[in-house]
Formats: sequence, C-alpha cells, structure tokens
Amino acid sequence: MKLGIYPGTFDPITNGHLDLIERGLRIFDELIIAVAPSPKKQPLFTLEERLGLIRQSVRDCRNVRVEAFNGLLVSYARDKGGVAIIRGLRAVSDFEYELQMALMNRRLDMQVETVFMMPSEEFSFITSTIVKEVSSFGGSVKGLVPDVVETALKEKFKIIEDIAE
Ligand code: COA
Repeated sequence: MKLGIYPGTFDPITNGHLDLIERGLRIFDELIIAVAPSPKKQPLFTLEERLGLIRQSVRDCRNVRVEAFNGLLVSYARDKGGVAIIRGLRAVSDFEYELQMALMNRRLDMQVETVFMMPSEEFSFITSTIVKEVSSFGGSVKGLVPDVVETALKEKFKIIEDIAE
C-alpha cells in the first residue's frame, strides 16, 4: 500500500485541492490530507472547521483520511508510513517556495520524497486566499469551492459583518 501525504492549511479547501486529491489517488493507494494549524497565517476557519469542511468535501472518496498534524511535516509523514508528500504546483510563482520546502524536507529526512502535481488549468488560478478575498466582498465563488465551503464562507463573513456593526 502506497500512502501519500497531502499537507496544507486548507483555509478553506478549494476545488483545486480536490482536483489534486483525485489525481493523487491515481498514483497512491491511500491519501492522508494532513491539516496544519498554521496559526501564523491567522486562518479564517478554525482547525476543527477546516477538518469538517474537508471531511464533507471528500466523503465520497474512498481511501482518503483527514487528520490534523502538529510539528514537522516529515516526522508526521514518517510516523504514518507515507512514501511521499504531495504538493500542487499551479504556476511558476509557486515553484521557488515549493522547491525550498521540498529540499528542506529532504534534508530533514532523506526517506520522504516530494511529488509535485499540476491541477487542471481551470483551477490553476485558485488559491484559498483569493477565494476568501472575493467572498468577503460578496462575490460568487461558485464552482471554485465545494458547495459546503461556499455556504460556510457566506456564514463566516456574515458573522464577521454582524460583529463589526
Ligand atoms: N496568510 C494566510 N494565508 C496565506 C498566506 C498568508 N500570509 N499566504 C498564503 N496563504 C494561503 C494561500 O491562499 C494558499 O492557499 P492554497 O492552499 O489554495 O494554495 C496557501 O496558504 C499556501 O500556503 P503554503 O504555505 O504554500 O501552503 P500551506 O499553508 O497550504 O501548507 C505546510 C504549508 C503546512 C505544508 C508547511 O507549512 C508545513 O509543512 N508545516 C509544518 C512544519 C514544517 O515541517 N515546516 C518545515 C517545512 S520545510
């Protein structure tokens, strides 16, 4: 059984992430979507909310687990028996940072490989950040995120708006 680890902050999960999960399942027998708390990024959704949204979005995918992780990614990947870390490459702009991370992870643990995958071009411009930005101003993100995420974004920004009033 080849296990792939797909890590990220997933604040929130987008259809680009889901596209990558589907692609990952063609290569790996099983995937763990490993969700980092990433407090420095001041996520919009709590860790529990992010896990919940991912779980609802992948409920029809077999062989996918969703877990939170703390600490070093390579240690987590090794503990779980993962053979590779999966990362998405959308554009050249992603490359430099991803290369840094992949090489640092390799230095930390030679056994864990990083596999880069490209999402479908229709999703290549989507980031969680841009989705949040558009949604915060009332713009539609339909088709860019799972329906549960679209609803959760609307609810979240409504709460923020109500607090601000
Ligand atoms: N504030 C909030 N969100 C931001 C941001 C910021 N300043 N900058 C980028 N983002 C969002 C983007 O929208 C992007 O969303 P996407 O998922 O649609 O691409 C996402 O965060 C990109 O951030 P990135 O850092 O590329 O990936 P990530 O946050 O999804 O995952 C980890 C990074 C969790 C894999 C990595 O930090 C990690 O491995 N952490 C564990 C600790 C560790 O081992 N560190 C050593 C790594 S060498």
